[in-house]
Amino acid sequence: MEKKREKFSSRLGFILISAGCAIGLGNVWRFPYITGKYGGAAFVLIYLLFLVIMGIPIMVAEFSVGRASQCSAVRSYHVLEPKGTKWHWHGYVCVAGNYLLMMFYTTVAGWMLSYMVKMAKGDFVGLNPTEVGAVFNDMLAKPLPMIFWMALTTVVCFLVCSMGLQKGVERITKWMMSCLFIILIILCIRSVTLPGAVEGLKFYLTPDFGKMAENGLGEAIFAAMGQAFFTLSIGIGAMSIFGSYIDKNRSLTGETVSICALDTTVALLSGLVIFPACFAFQIDPGEGPGLVFVTLPNVFNQMPGGRIFGTLFFVFMFFAAASTIIAVFENLINFSIDLSDMSRKKAVILNLVLVLVLSIPCVLGFNVLSGFQPLGEGTTIQDLEDFIVSNNLLPLGSLVFLLFCTTKKGWGWKNFITEADSGKGLKFPKWSRVYVTYILPFIVLFIFVMGYYQKFFAK
Ligand code: ALA
Repeated sequence: MEKKREKFSSRLGFILISAGCAIGLGNVWRFPYITGKYGGAAFVLIYLLFLVIMGIPIMVAEFSVGRASQCSAVRSYHVLEPKGTKWHWHGYVCVAGNYLLMMFYTTVAGWMLSYMVKMAKGDFVGLNPTEVGAVFNDMLAKPLPMIFWMALTTVVCFLVCSMGLQKGVERITKWMMSCLFIILIILCIRSVTLPGAVEGLKFYLTPDFGKMAENGLGEAIFAAMGQAFFTLSIGIGAMSIFGSYIDKNRSLTGETVSICALDTTVALLSGLVIFPACFAFQIDPGEGPGLVFVTLPNVFNQMPGGRIFGTLFFVFMFFAAASTIIAVFENLINFSIDLSDMSRKKAVILNLVLVLVLSIPCVLGFNVLSGFQPLGEGTTIQDLEDFIVSNNLLPLGSLVFLLFCTTKKGWGWKNFITEADSGKGLKFPKWSRVYVTYILPFIVLFIFVMGYYQKFFAK
């Protein structure tokens, strides 16, 4: 059954591709608008705390399962679970989770691509804020152009995967991530040197817990926890596959810390681009998901050289999104290969068709099917897909990975810690066993329950 698996050509490849899977819309779109909504620096501190106490242990668990099993998430449990147990059912849930994530992610990435072109063409030049808002609404209202951008994104990313793990996924992602960091630094310098940027820096960097409490402390804490799951892509096995592409030279905790640090750096720097720029032009950053598509084009409109910086900004956003999509497509392709032993080429074609078809409901949810409001007034199919993934599959899946790695009925602590600690580098702290086994699962469960409460019962 076991075929020879292609491996990453370098340690840097592993770190950048895993970081690429983590770095995405969560960092550059969701993080800034949630931070804006919950009052800035105080929220950022809570978010960082959850990354450390929750994100790192769960990511180490995923990588360990992947490296020990040498499979994608759909087969890992079969290899590692005690005979007769049913942990592998979660493998199929991971498959569903990866597809569902892509079902709305490709659409938003398509928006980035479309905005990149609009910015470059100068479509926003001379428009007032209402007209800029109308561009976004107009895009949502037209299914065909949206399908075009979604499909273009999907085809390009599958093309990268079709070139193979080393020559496609690793090579292109390394290049994209390098460009992403360079563009991000250019944008940061531009933003913090704008006249009036200081107010934005204050908002972003000076914690004000009192102000956060006014907006609901519980809600902010819950949002920070949810953001930690989303940004690290943990709970649906998307990360575990990259563990299966590396050898045992390095300990997994050390590698995880590097990946989380990169992910956090990009999120924090994205905030440094967005908040000073918004404050410099007196535009409210707390306006929600429209921040990137409505607020920021207004900011670029008023900025000297705004067209160039705006285009660079959307190139940056697209690279962030595409690095996640390529990483998740690599998962989808391997699910097909692991399940039915097909060639990579066949798996690419099958999944290209599948993802194209499965992404269409999200697009239509904004126009033709906008009457379908699954989670209450004003909600869309995208909200439903996001809710299933972010509020259900990520926390519950993380819980399963944790229990699998810590309980005797699963893979067990000993096997987990042996795998995680194999190789040079930072070891998983032994003292944390009680925390990871008995406390962390309750924190995760709490997030799950709170997610439902917030969605359906809070005012
Ligand atoms: N981790 C991915 C992101 O942040 C899903 O967008």
